[in-house]
Amino acid sequence: MRFIHISDTHLGKTPDFTYNGFNSYRHLERVIETINALPFAVDFVLHSGDVTEYGSAEEYVLARRLLERSRFPVKYAVGNHDNAALLQSALLGIESPSGRYDHTFSVAGVQIVILDTNNGFVPNGTLTERQLADLRALCTPEGAPLIVALHHPPLPLDTPWLQEGWAGFGFRSMLLNEGEAFRAAIAPARERLRGVFFGHIHRAFQVQHEGIFYCSAPSTVIQFVAYPEQRDPKPAPEELPAFALVTLDEAQLTVRQYALPRPEAG
Ligand SMILES: [Fe+2]
Repeated sequence: MRFIHISDTHLGKTPDFTYNGFNSYRHLERVIETINALPFAVDFVLHSGDVTEYGSAEEYVLARRLLERSRFPVKYAVGNHDNAALLQSALLGIESPSGRYDHTFSVAGVQIVILDTNNGFVPNGTLTERQLADLRALCTPEGAPLIVALHHPPLPLDTPWLQEGWAGFGFRSMLLNEGEAFRAAIAPARERLRGVFFGHIHRAFQVQHEGIFYCSAPSTVIQFVAYPEQRDPKPAPEELPAFALVTLDEAQLTVRQYALPRPEAG
């Protein structure tokens, strides 16, 4: 089973919108063209959230036009820059959107669970008691191989601006508020849980925590610097847009990250 992991596309209302100085539409277009031209197939594309910048209907209409060009089905986690209802209706054409867009599907015998951790337009994410109860019910020791995806990092990361937030934005963490409860909920499924995939931090991190593998995707438009001991976020325009390829087989899980050139003129 293989999937592509993309994240933090930050599309605007029109194709000329720029995010941190770069045209996010044309960057994503280039990523989709690259994925479509891969000399092998994947089972799906995971988009771990922040599809849009402001979560408006116009942005999702534009996102739909672009993301429909993907050769592979795209599965979405809701980010803090997204609106769950509009993502479901305007992007996915779902007629009766649910309040929180949690969803699960199976492919090649692997169960994939995607959680909505949106907490409004703030950096830190949240899961409700109900979501945690559902996750606990799902994460039994026995069962199919399992993948969990969400927008926010559900574990400590060794960069102060990610962990504790920063002065310019009221010290709001970038993490999931209920990280500890999340990790306790998934722990019983450790033997079959192949990985937890997230986005939001605009950088590829891989963490092994209590026997579970956690992995974030780079952004398709711009990365942020996240060194140990770094107190403030900083865009890294010199680093390229990128995506990840995740392969699962009986023996192992492999993640490869690929950077690609920026489209011309930003
Ligand atoms: Fe985000």
